[in-house]
Amino acid sequence: MEFDGSQVLIGKGAQADVFRYQGYAYKVYRSSYPAEWIAFEKDQQKAVNGAGLCPVRYYDTDDDHIIKMDLIDGEALEKKVREGYIEGFGILAEAFRKIHAASVEGIRMPPLMATAGMGLTEEEKDTIFPIIEKLSGKYPSCICHLDMHFLNIMLPHGEKEEASQCSPAADHEETAGRTDPAFPEYVIIDWMNARIAPAVFDYARTYVIFDEFSREGLAIYKQVIADDIKNLGISDEDFHEAVKVCAIIRNREK
Ligand SMILES: Nc1ncnc2c1ncn2[C@@H]1O[C@H](COP(=O)(O)OP(=O)(O)O)[C@@H](O)[C@H]1O
Ligand SMILES: [Mg+2]
Repeated sequence: MEFDGSQVLIGKGAQADVFRYQGYAYKVYRSSYPAEWIAFEKDQQKAVNGAGLCPVRYYDTDDDHIIKMDLIDGEALEKKVREGYIEGFGILAEAFRKIHAASVEGIRMPPLMATAGMGLTEEEKDTIFPIIEKLSGKYPSCICHLDMHFLNIMLPHGEKEEASQCSPAADHEETAGRTDPAFPEYVIIDWMNARIAPAVFDYARTYVIFDEFSREGLAIYKQVIADDIKNLGISDEDFHEAVKVCAIIRNREK
């Protein structure tokens, strides 16, 4: 496919640029990025659409390195938090609760254990596998986003939907592709990393991300998730073991 020049760059990631174009968003991957991973990302999106966790649909284009998506007309939560919107941390905590409460029944998504070792040394695998195994035996598994941060939560402009934070995908059949007034208050995007695993890994992954970027952010983050961690019965020791796993995996991504 070719853009006619009217596309506007609206987002930039490590592997892709995102453009607004003719009422849709287009994620354009670097040509070196493996096409199988893009296909995997599309499958992931279908799974979270079906689970009612994200209303943004992905569509094929004639270029396997370009995904067409429903456009979220809005801004990343990150921008608002940078401007002092402290409530953003509450939205983050709420987003985790929503994801972890979703049913895993029939969901097509790999378990963390199946992919965690990718690209790691034998020694690293020997460190992380026993921890993942132990914590997976101890806590229930759920959908984990595993890349939850303020750039992956979008705040759509326009009317807000009061009743639910995220309607089941089927409700969006008619409105998909437009600047959608029925989008929920916040939309969680970028589900490439999502896996089935105990929730502690999702909390730990975001801990590692804050630890890299913002000491102050990390302190607030720890506060806003404290009750949820406690309610899940997660011990300090288990949390720190999960952080160890996530730090090793994150390090590989660099
Ligand atoms: N459907 C969309 N509508 C509007 N903006 C989007 C959409 N998807 C992504 N973006 C913007 O592009 C950025 C990068 O997209 P994302 O899917 O998170 O890619 P990456 O995997 O590179 O982080 C996001 O942070 C967001 O600002
Ligand atoms: Mg992202």
